[in-house]
Amino acid sequence: MENRSQWGSRLGFLLAAMGSAIGLGNIWRFPAVAYENGGGAFFIPYLFALLTAGIPMLIMEFTIGHKYRSSAPRALKRISGGMEWIGWWQIAISFVISTYYPVIVAWASMYAYFSFSQAWGNNPESFFMNDFLNRTDPGTFGSIVPSVLWPMIIIWVIVFVILFRGVNKGIELANRIFIPLLLICFLLIVIRAVTLPGAFTGLEAFFAPDWSSIMDGSVWVSAYAQIFFSLSIGFAIMVTFSSYLPKKSDITNNAFITGFSNSSFELLAGIGVFAALGFMAAQTGQEVSEVVEGGVGLAFVVFPEIVSQMPASGLFGFLFFASLVLAGMSSMVSISETYIAGVQEKFNVSRRTSVLIGVGFASVVSLLFATQGGLVLLDTVDYFINNYGIALAGLIQVVGIAWFARELNNLQAHADSVSDILLGSWWQFSLRFITPLVLGYMMIQNLRTDMT
Ligand code: PFF
Ligand code: NA
Repeated sequence: MENRSQWGSRLGFLLAAMGSAIGLGNIWRFPAVAYENGGGAFFIPYLFALLTAGIPMLIMEFTIGHKYRSSAPRALKRISGGMEWIGWWQIAISFVISTYYPVIVAWASMYAYFSFSQAWGNNPESFFMNDFLNRTDPGTFGSIVPSVLWPMIIIWVIVFVILFRGVNKGIELANRIFIPLLLICFLLIVIRAVTLPGAFTGLEAFFAPDWSSIMDGSVWVSAYAQIFFSLSIGFAIMVTFSSYLPKKSDITNNAFITGFSNSSFELLAGIGVFAALGFMAAQTGQEVSEVVEGGVGLAFVVFPEIVSQMPASGLFGFLFFASLVLAGMSSMVSISETYIAGVQEKFNVSRRTSVLIGVGFASVVSLLFATQGGLVLLDTVDYFINNYGIALAGLIQVVGIAWFARELNNLQAHADSVSDILLGSWWQFSLRFITPLVLGYMMIQNLRTDMT
């Protein structure tokens, strides 16, 4: 019997799962996705996706990890010998993400510092592209940008220390610090944002429902895509984390808590971001629709502009970028843990050896993204990971478990034996039919748009 590491408490596990789920996707992805896909009306497909794919998949991953007490490759192998590779595929995706995630965290940490002096001046876009990233033409890497390199080294050292200290004294402790801090920083931002002049116009734009969007298939695909990415499903993370749960642990309840906390944070972010966008629109005499943006553009171009126009702007900017750093770090730790655990089990090495190899390798690869050409590379890799990698990994996993290994009855029995809430037929129905169909449709749609 191996002596498997364990979480110190239920809260520790929940904080780690939330730490993984709550990330950049909540802050910079959800608000723009919701706005572009029907505003207030988006909440219908979104809730539907949460209940028919997000939480069911989360329950499935939690149950697999808990039942087989293994990270993804070994757990899937124990279910059926032919499925181990699915776990390695998920780990490969996690590895790739873990090489570019720290770059964004590095940018955000520099921007937290820039907030005080407003180093971006009057043209944040040109500052970001030219002065900060020192960008080169697509296709060339140029050299490593020092202002990105140094924060990245610090970030990797922190990730290394957290993972090296293990599940309980490392990951759990880190999340006990990160998550409350994140909540405080972010709540302060939201309170400040909604009390700014113009905030209400922003919120109106965000919540205004476009009911016709509900009839649009691509809106539903966006809802499912957001849920998958946001709940860190299909990456081997949630399987790995639940493998460290004590034998007596509620599975189903924990999945509901994780799912709803993550969505609450998304809603909060939508309110904060759109209140700030409303303020900016009012200041510059634009429509909210003209200033809406997501992703890198929102964080490193639009937000600096907002910050520059705010009273007490240094603090506001600092809190915003600190939130990105905190949210990013806990996701970063979770995603790196997948390959640490996978390698440790597969090659029977100690955790520390595995951390040394895994973090060592990932940190070296990540330097590619710290070069002058890093942003272009990051965009490309992120695009493929988001549009194909994640959906494909989730699709193969759910089809493998539900149809190939016919494992759902066993998993349901296991989850029910430890959980307060018993799984109804919605759970199996979601995993056998709804999730695979939506994921399959998503892949085909993405392929079709890319071909034309
Ligand atoms: N769930 C995170 C978010 O919503 O930002 C993103 C993420 C973290 C995706 C970790 C994948 C991952 F492995
Ligand atoms: Na999330």
